[in-house]
Amino acid sequence: MASGAQLSSTSVNATKASPTLPASVYTLPQTTQLEALYTIIRDKDTSRGDFIFYSDRIIRLLVEEGLNHLPVVPKTVETPTGVQYDGVGFEGKICGVSILRAGEAMEQGLREVCRSVRIGKILIQRDEETTLPKLFYSKLPQDIAKRYVLLLDPMLATGGSAMKAVEVIMDHGVPEDRIIFINLISAPEGLKNFCTRYPALKVITGWIDEGLNDRAYIIPGLGDFGERRYCS
Ligand code: URA
Repeated sequence: MASGAQLSSTSVNATKASPTLPASVYTLPQTTQLEALYTIIRDKDTSRGDFIFYSDRIIRLLVEEGLNHLPVVPKTVETPTGVQYDGVGFEGKICGVSILRAGEAMEQGLREVCRSVRIGKILIQRDEETTLPKLFYSKLPQDIAKRYVLLLDPMLATGGSAMKAVEVIMDHGVPEDRIIFINLISAPEGLKNFCTRYPALKVITGWIDEGLNDRAYIIPGLGDFGERRYCS
């Protein structure tokens, strides 16, 4: 899954990841269109404008996929023809939580599909003394314990920040199985760490790369997502 060479021209029309991955991990269908989008955002020569446009396209797909994993209940409505339609509605309320700063880039994609959605923020940075991820700031919806949470962070590298963010969200009363973590690219090491610690939490990822380099960047990756999105 890490390189295009493994993709055939027929797309895999399923979101369940390979059986070698943890059962809680779902990838986007690995189509050639998706690979073309990733090729653009991975390219170091892609302009900032194109990076934003094409990463937004992937984010939109990921958010839509995340919503597919929310439970629904039967719901009957009457159509303008006067006939009843037996459909479904979402069971509960949702909110987003972005991990600053790169996760903020995913907020608009969530707002585009969920009108007036509440979005909290968490800032986690490395503690220089302990080298462990440390919470610096969080602002979460006051009723978050009653909501399903879409956790937003584009790059799952070691998994340290994401695991700390989940810890903070769960400390606010959200059960593990009501959190869905959405990211664009995952490193297998990070996925393994994360899913071992939180097996009931679903991970929706666009692509699983080869691994991490000695600076904990995802390989082949796309570099520093925040830099590419906000600075270059
Ligand atoms: N964060 C990034 O922006 N890029 C990586 O490769 C890893 C973490």
